[in-house]
Amino acid sequence: MCGIVGYVGNKQAAPILLDGLSRLEYRGYDSAGLAVRDGDAEPVIIKAKGRLKILAEKTNEGKSLPGSCGIGHTRWATHGEPSEGNAHPHCTDDRSIIGVHNGIIENYQELRDKLIRKGYSFHSQTDTEVAIKTVDYYLKKYNQGPVDAIVRTMMRVRGSYALAFMFKDYPGEMFVARKDSPMIIGVDADETFVASDVPALLRYTRNVYYIGNNEIARLGAGTATFYNIDQEEIQKEITEIKWDAEAAERGGFEHFMMKEIHEQPKAVQDTLNSLVVDGHISLDAISMTEEEIAKIGSIVIVACGSAYHVGVSLQYVFEDLARVPVRVELASEFRYRNPILSPDTLVIVISQSGETADSLAALREAKDKGARTLGIVNVVGSSIAREADNVIYTLAGPEIAVATTKAYSTQLIAGYILAIEFAMVRGLITQDQYDDFLAALEKIPDQISRILEDKERIQWFAAKFSHARDIFFIGRGIDYAISLEGSLKMKEISYIHSEAYAAGELKHGTISLVEDGTLVIGVLTQPALFEKTISNMVEVKSRGAYLMGLTSYGNYSVEDTVDFTVYVPRTDPHFANSLAIISLQLMAYYMSVAKGLDVDKPRNLAKSVTVE
Ligand code: AGP
Repeated sequence: MCGIVGYVGNKQAAPILLDGLSRLEYRGYDSAGLAVRDGDAEPVIIKAKGRLKILAEKTNEGKSLPGSCGIGHTRWATHGEPSEGNAHPHCTDDRSIIGVHNGIIENYQELRDKLIRKGYSFHSQTDTEVAIKTVDYYLKKYNQGPVDAIVRTMMRVRGSYALAFMFKDYPGEMFVARKDSPMIIGVDADETFVASDVPALLRYTRNVYYIGNNEIARLGAGTATFYNIDQEEIQKEITEIKWDAEAAERGGFEHFMMKEIHEQPKAVQDTLNSLVVDGHISLDAISMTEEEIAKIGSIVIVACGSAYHVGVSLQYVFEDLARVPVRVELASEFRYRNPILSPDTLVIVISQSGETADSLAALREAKDKGARTLGIVNVVGSSIAREADNVIYTLAGPEIAVATTKAYSTQLIAGYILAIEFAMVRGLITQDQYDDFLAALEKIPDQISRILEDKERIQWFAAKFSHARDIFFIGRGIDYAISLEGSLKMKEISYIHSEAYAAGELKHGTISLVEDGTLVIGVLTQPALFEKTISNMVEVKSRGAYLMGLTSYGNYSVEDTVDFTVYVPRTDPHFANSLAIISLQLMAYYMSVAKGLDVDKPRNLAKSVTVE
């Protein structure tokens, strides 16, 4: 997820672009850049690695970039490390086309190879440079102008994009195109603004056009002409934005956490699209060859917090599908226990930030002991990503809320894909099973959306129990892993004490804590373990517990036992965590809101724990 801005009008563009980018930094902040053009003079491009303030200093707050037409970008790396060379804007070698991009061009490699065969060269690792040079290729080949060249490019690329271009032969104009990534166009008397999101232009105008999917626009000072994919001009109405700036930054959601909960369908889809190409798992994307996978004798998954809970879930999935022994370790323990590793051990380190001190230390410990290491990381170019032998990037985009949601969900997806590939390489699943597993994963984004549509019911229940002092989450197998994460979410944002317990373990002591009215949430997504967990729930019910059941649609017999039921769509049991956790994220969120707490910045916590 990145942020793009554009301006053309009667003022100096650079300060406006910088201000807009500063309101989009939550969309990405590993590098930034501007391209500004003064009339038909050569455009000036300035880029900087790091936070936006470095670019502002480099351009003297934009004052050193004269011109009333420009585009800008703040980056969240998905292709290519954070660096000045990979920062946007990118351009053709003769600077006749300059562009910025938010989104993911999935077939950028094939397009890049084709352009290289046509004589193009590339100076960055980004998919954006490929998109810009594809436009240039079509502009030169058909010579029908920018709109035609952009449309031809849109027909050729696969993926998501919000693109803004400046063309040498069209001074004082911008051309934009959109598919799946957000973009909004603001207009005022004789000024036009482009942005990834409302906050970037709200200070200047509330009059906006919403550009639709597969639409293009030609923008001048105060003018906007829209075209569809057939290059037919289309009329659009201006909408007035009612939001205040702060609400706009959260996309209209009250908290970043809720915004990020709602971004999970797209984050999961983007991650799936990066790992599965034309129905096959991309070995490039999982950065391991079949031979390397075949040689792995055991796996150790090491992480902290929610990432650790992903590991607990993946242990069941890997062992059941790939029959490879998996151990899951807390990074803070692993790093000091002089772990026993063998050369055929694969150590997987899971980390959203890629900077968690304990996880980074555990990675180094594993490497010192000669194990092969693989990172599952969300931040491109982070320490863990750079130091692991191989890395799988999750495409959750920047996660602002301290309590992880979309990063957790994308980590699960990456782990499932790896487990399926391990099982296939080891000849433990058939091609039909492989296809069925991938088909089940492809349904997850829509199934998450369906859960989100039904959130009011969870909101009602959460408000009813927001006074709770103790909440127990119980489950068996993957349901235990789900319970761990549900309990952590509850603790970290609602401050209610909670424990996750393997359902079969409760009676070995902890059940003594159950009193009249104690809320016990039973997670019941695993058909083979359903009855066993129900029995454990009956045990606690007989001691006064109030029971909530979290299960898949169709398991209606649960209502004979529990007091309240939350249903999620049915999926392959291996992947049930990806759906059940959505309901538990919402429950923790609504409990925190009901208690009037700071959901995005809970007390005592930090987004990335870079100290021991
Ligand atoms: C989860 O909601 C917490 N924010 C925390 O447990 C987090 O998962 C943990 O600190 C690991 O962080 P990482 O994924 O960046 O390594």
